Amino acid sequence: MNNRPIGVFDSGVGGLSVLRELVKLLPQENFVYLADQANVPYGGKSAETIQQLSHQITHYLLTQQHCKLIVVACNTATAAALNYLRQTYVGIPFVGMEPAIKPGAQATRTGKIGVLATSGTFRSQRYADLMARHIDGVELFEDSCLGLVELIENGNLSTPQTAALLRSVLTPMIDVGVDTLVLGCTHYPFVAPLIQRIAGEDVTLIDPAPAVARQVARRLAELTGHFGVVAGKPCGKVKMITTGDPARFNAQVDLLLPPT
Ligand code: DGL
Repeated sequence: MNNRPIGVFDSGVGGLSVLRELVKLLPQENFVYLADQANVPYGGKSAETIQQLSHQITHYLLTQQHCKLIVVACNTATAAALNYLRQTYVGIPFVGMEPAIKPGAQATRTGKIGVLATSGTFRSQRYADLMARHIDGVELFEDSCLGLVELIENGNLSTPQTAALLRSVLTPMIDVGVDTLVLGCTHYPFVAPLIQRIAGEDVTLIDPAPAVARQVARRLAELTGHFGVVAGKPCGKVKMITTGDPARFNAQVDLLLPPT
């Protein structure tokens, strides 16, 4: 048995959309969630800066929180820093995330998919490689939804301002026949109901968080044989940490992950 926690990090509250799937799938595990809100948003930062920040967070999660596996619950940090982290922390299991282009390409009937992600993700080599592998015959319409991460961080999940931003992004996509939207930033699932309302019920939204949670479960199962990394029961505590204002973060968590 290994009750050490699983570390999960993001630039802010976005990774909570991944954490909720992890807790659902692996209720016996302990988690430490770190929101780097002193530095949010990551989207416009250079790859070097994001590598530096991800390196510091990983170091903290490993040495101060004794995490057994790290989930990079941020597409932008995965794009900029996952390879670097794997090279730096050899032997530590990492699970990252990337826009779900492949499931999107499989789901579309019109052959047109919209990808909503940050400019950092779109600029990355990782995204270019992903497109090269899965784009085959599918037309992509990309938008970095400038300002949406900040609106979500501020709790504007369904305000007129957020609706106006999303309408300006989604209307041109829907007009050209996009029928599938890939949520390529972990913040965006928190506005999925609004996206669905604006895009229409016929449009399929794809959030990779459940697939990422399954990947974490697979990694744990694989590692169990070697290191015994699966937690015993009863466990299931979640520790929340922010590099920003803890009181504000608590209120955000209450809003985004209401107790069921
Ligand atoms: N939540 C992050 C992502 O998945 C990044 C948001 C940001 O800080 O720009 O890409």
